[in-house]
Amino acid sequence: MQNLDNHAKLLAALRWQVEAGADEAVQDTPYQLAEGHLRGGAPPRAVEPRDAVERLKGRVESQSVPQPTPAPKVLPQAVPDFSACASLEELREAVAGFDLDLKATATQMVFADGDPASKIMFIGEAPGGDEDRQGRPFVGVSGKLFNKMLASIGLMREHIYITNTILWRPPGNRTPTEEEVAVFLPILRRHIALVAPEILVCLGGAAAKALLATDMGILKLRGRWHDYDMGGTMLPLLPTLHPAYLLRMPEQKTLAWRDFCLIAQKMREKSI
Ligand code: URA
Repeated sequence: MQNLDNHAKLLAALRWQVEAGADEAVQDTPYQLAEGHLRGGAPPRAVEPRDAVERLKGRVESQSVPQPTPAPKVLPQAVPDFSACASLEELREAVAGFDLDLKATATQMVFADGDPASKIMFIGEAPGGDEDRQGRPFVGVSGKLFNKMLASIGLMREHIYITNTILWRPPGNRTPTEEEVAVFLPILRRHIALVAPEILVCLGGAAAKALLATDMGILKLRGRWHDYDMGGTMLPLLPTLHPAYLLRMPEQKTLAWRDFCLIAQKMREKSI
């Protein structure tokens, strides 16, 4: 009976991982823990990582578990005229009322945080689980690193304004699709125009590629200022590495540190 309980718990844990988008075995030598060993049988045996993932998927699928929501093909039913929003509050309301498939899987909209009067605006990619629960951008592990990056140049969250390219959490924290980014671009442009910062910083490639209309990767874009056309006013835009990427690749923090020195320098130039 207890073995059956364990079996059900293990399957539930595995199902959760598949739903969350796990598609790789991360150990060098994965073991079939859910089989014989736990039922008092032979000790764990090593399997090929890919086999382990395929078996896991097969088992979860065979139990008719709901699969992760696929990215919708056509997103909005009707797109409001975001450019007509005259204030951040109007924009927030227009976006909240926007009929969008992403809303079905997210808890709430994650609009922005920080000081809307700030002269420096940061733009991330999309809310993750913590942000989805709390309704504020960058409050999870990436947010903690982001706060430290700000502190390294003497800034705090209260000194800056921050939003994301996509304002609802994509299911399973998947990367936003190109269509989703395209749908949110007019919102982001209006958001920037209403905040009217003097400096823009894009955390990761999503925002930078959309705002600069380029396919270039973040590692090529970062480290230098670009011009963002805010309705005729040119704004300096710095793409830099996303904190979530830095958590996976800590050796790249040196590059991010160089970028943050550029931000500090630009703030001095502009007496911010
Ligand atoms: N990553 C982002 O890009 N934005 C968040 O708000 C959280 C994590």
